[in-house]
Amino acid sequence: MYEKIQHLLRELENLTAKNLQEAEELRIKWIGKKGCITALFDEFKTIAADRKRDLGQPLNALKNAAQEKLLSLRTALTQEAAPVADDYTQPGEPHPFGARHPISTVRAEIIEIFARTGYTLAEGPEIEDDWHVFSALNFPPEHPARDMQDTFFVRQGNNPVLLRTHTSSVQVRVMESQPPPIRVICPGRVFRNEAVSARAHCIFHQVEGLYIDENVSFADLKQAVLYFAREMFGHATKIRLRPSYFPFTEPSAEVDVSCNICGGKGCAICKHTGWLEIMGCGMVDPNVLATCRIDPEKYTGFAFGMGVERIAMLKWQVRDLRLYFENDVRFLAQFAATV
Ligand code: DAH
Repeated sequence: MYEKIQHLLRELENLTAKNLQEAEELRIKWIGKKGCITALFDEFKTIAADRKRDLGQPLNALKNAAQEKLLSLRTALTQEAAPVADDYTQPGEPHPFGARHPISTVRAEIIEIFARTGYTLAEGPEIEDDWHVFSALNFPPEHPARDMQDTFFVRQGNNPVLLRTHTSSVQVRVMESQPPPIRVICPGRVFRNEAVSARAHCIFHQVEGLYIDENVSFADLKQAVLYFAREMFGHATKIRLRPSYFPFTEPSAEVDVSCNICGGKGCAICKHTGWLEIMGCGMVDPNVLATCRIDPEKYTGFAFGMGVERIAMLKWQVRDLRLYFENDVRFLAQFAATV
């Protein structure tokens, strides 16, 4: 009998079951009423009392080992079978919410604000020619903005091909292809040969605006800019226009908004001035209209251009521009609630 117990112990170690039914059959075979261990216990009753002492302990050990083993076969199989593929009553796996990139969110908001006052969308190519980026926009031939310092040239020569340095090139394409009245908003990526830092990047986004019709005045420009500033930064926002220079507008101005962080009192973000610069603008230079075959005697217009990253930085007080390009999810996830 001792031999039998040892043999069964070894057999037990190697027991396997492919499915729950097999595990149940093994349980009956081993520890069921008519199983082999029950039979051993029956046999045990019949043996002489002096041998019982030596056999009782190993027999009980076999029984415990068998119970443990058969239970573990069963639990392993139930755990494997747990996620039943087509059990539609199971609770779903939670999906983490994604977030729109903050630059996309702000660009969409800018477009939406202007769309409310009748601006439609226009787009142009990122790889441009000198005509659309500079010449048609009244840049004198020797103007420093054509210099290698700012512009990435794809091909140089008599007809250089370059990466646009501003979205003002789209103004030209629109004016060349449609008659006034024109009211467009042109978002897009621009490229400049700048060292990457917290305040500058070689790739960024701009939104350009252009409005051309009869009797468009500087007062209309100011109102359009004020409307935008209030919609974007809040209704208490004030604007201020400072004289500036762009080859394609005359007169030209730089637009500041009252600092939305300190409310105009002065803080580190606005460098204690109370004002934050948000865009350039001006009345379209008559030379530009004429170059694009629009009669400057009949029509006037205004244009403006702003950096999307700059607006986003001011809106959310982000101090390092590079965060927008690194796509670190710890940064991006913070904007999930802004969509
Ligand atoms: N193109 C200018 C820049 O990249 C921004 C700009 C200024 C656009 C004045 C305009 C404008 O349309 O009128 O800095």
